[in-house]
Amino acid sequence: MRSHYCGLVDEALIDQRVELCGWVHRRRDHGGVIFIDLRDREGLVQVVFDPDSEKNFAVAERVRSEYVLRVAGRVRSRPEGTVNPNLRTGMIEVLGDEIEILNSAETPPFPLDDNTEVGEDVRLRYRYLDLRRPEMLQRFRLRSKVCHTVRRYLEDNGFMDIETPMLTRSTPEGARDYLVPSRVHPGEFYALPQSPQLFKQLLMMSGMDRYYQIVRCFRDEDLRADRQPEFTQLDIEASFVDEAAIMGIVENMIRDLFLKVLETPLQDPMPRMTYAEAIRRFGIDRPDLRIPLELVDVGDLMVDVDFQVFSTPARDPGSRVAALRVPDGGKLSRKEIDDYTKFVSIYGARGLAYIKVNDLGAGREGLQSPILKFLPDQVVDAIMSRTAAANGDLIFFGADKAKIVNESIGALRVRLGHDLGMVEYGWRPVWVTDFPMFEYDDNNVRWAALHHPFTQPKCDTETMSADPGNCLSRAYDLVLNGVEIGGGSIRIHRPDMQSATLKLLGIDEEEARQKFGFLLDALKYGCPPHGGIAFGIDRLVMLMSGSQSIREVIAFPKTQTATCLLTQAPSPVDDPQLRELGIRLRQRNPEA
Ligand code: AMO
Ligand code: AMP
Repeated sequence: MRSHYCGLVDEALIDQRVELCGWVHRRRDHGGVIFIDLRDREGLVQVVFDPDSEKNFAVAERVRSEYVLRVAGRVRSRPEGTVNPNLRTGMIEVLGDEIEILNSAETPPFPLDDNTEVGEDVRLRYRYLDLRRPEMLQRFRLRSKVCHTVRRYLEDNGFMDIETPMLTRSTPEGARDYLVPSRVHPGEFYALPQSPQLFKQLLMMSGMDRYYQIVRCFRDEDLRADRQPEFTQLDIEASFVDEAAIMGIVENMIRDLFLKVLETPLQDPMPRMTYAEAIRRFGIDRPDLRIPLELVDVGDLMVDVDFQVFSTPARDPGSRVAALRVPDGGKLSRKEIDDYTKFVSIYGARGLAYIKVNDLGAGREGLQSPILKFLPDQVVDAIMSRTAAANGDLIFFGADKAKIVNESIGALRVRLGHDLGMVEYGWRPVWVTDFPMFEYDDNNVRWAALHHPFTQPKCDTETMSADPGNCLSRAYDLVLNGVEIGGGSIRIHRPDMQSATLKLLGIDEEEARQKFGFLLDALKYGCPPHGGIAFGIDRLVMLMSGSQSIREVIAFPKTQTATCLLTQAPSPVDDPQLRELGIRLRQRNPEA
């Protein structure tokens, strides 16, 4: 049907005949000559029809935007003055001598030019049209290249692509499960996998040694710009490895990926940071190292000050008083500071104290702050030197339970970085290691696994059980520009340790057998030490394509409320179908 892609016709084909298929991007009538920009996956080419051939000209006159055409003609240089150096096909045009309308099209609900300001709802409802836009094509081309490149790397390094079930049992990754009712076992349900975690561990026990899979995962959790209910992981597991081995392999893979796809070298080796250091310096375990602002502890200076907002948390080991120096922040207006105060309140902060540094040489007179009156000279001096304050700076303070200070001042740091144009250019990967094994869940009054319950603790069973709060794990995350792109760990490979961990999480023996009996059994039959990691492909492609949301790099994504605007999923089902599944609804969605 066609000899070339539209977007690939160039000077090398001058005087040759080409046959092209594609969509009408634009049609222009110019005093008896019709120009059609014909578009396909590879780009645009200009096709010209002159009135010499009456029949062709009449057809060309009928075409409208997004009609599907087949045209044929001879490639020729564009007349001088009409050359477009921005297009690969910009030096040539095709003088058409055949034209066939393969299909007509209604006027699209939005123009398919690149910079269209169309609401996301409309784009998602007509996703097939949205995906015609060159910008979107570009993203999916990149996505395909990313998958191809990592696949090749892993295959070259001895990893085997093995599929794992979609209809399975619950795998705890901290989210709710999507359930699928079983028709043949009325009242029973499969769970869609939150990840292939347990299966990939079982594959190690089977001796597969090195496994990978590009695999869909399902999590019913609150959605954000970088979270979807179904998303894609690059899932990896290997046997007889420690942290250094796994991190080394995948670090090389990510460097190879950026080099091949973006022609960008990444740091070698990538920097590493413990969880404790990340929280102390950035308030968050996925620090964006492009932002040159850091939290500085000042609690020790505040123990005896006459300001309870600071002294109370300064005396409490579970609290924190932290300062954040903002270079040149002195120019922030009262209103801007009020807005930042509102911003941190989202994270539970009850205020946002600050000191403006006008003139360091002038002592207290040179500083401006509602809290200055509470702080003695030596405390003020110590704050200035510890934060390395300079004239023109502003220092913010957070004082509260450590979690609130970390989250609020950590988020403020990122917000200020963007607002004040302080985000450095480029890629800043960082490994975060030495995570706590458990965190206390105040709501449910029990310990929860920070990564997942199959992660190997850094200590023995007794030490772990005696003091879960201080037990670190052999988990690691790879963070890129403030986004967690991957996370993994060395796994528990001994049944006693696995049982002890489950017990600590409040899962008694009976429940453990019921939920993970197959794993506990498998561990008894010669399980090799093993570990692995999973990368979020959508997040990785979002970053690499400079997109703001993972929805931009998923062909048919869901909205923030987990619906598909194109197919209208989820949707009600008929009573007979429910009956067959043995399901009676307690309530129906009144809006459905
Ligand atoms: P984890 O839960 O950290 O680990 O997931 C691994 C990576 O998957 C991505 N990711 C998501 N991307 C989009 N939408 C979501 N809802 C979503 N949730 C997670 C993130 C994350 O870093 N089984 C373990 C891995 C292991 O231990 O090997 C796991 O799933 O980029
Ligand atoms: P107040 O004495 O409550 O008026 O607070 C004096 C200053 O301290 C104001 O600038 C408040 O925004 C700030 N502030 C109050 N609570 C906190 C807190 N928990 N952390 C940081 N600053 C606070």
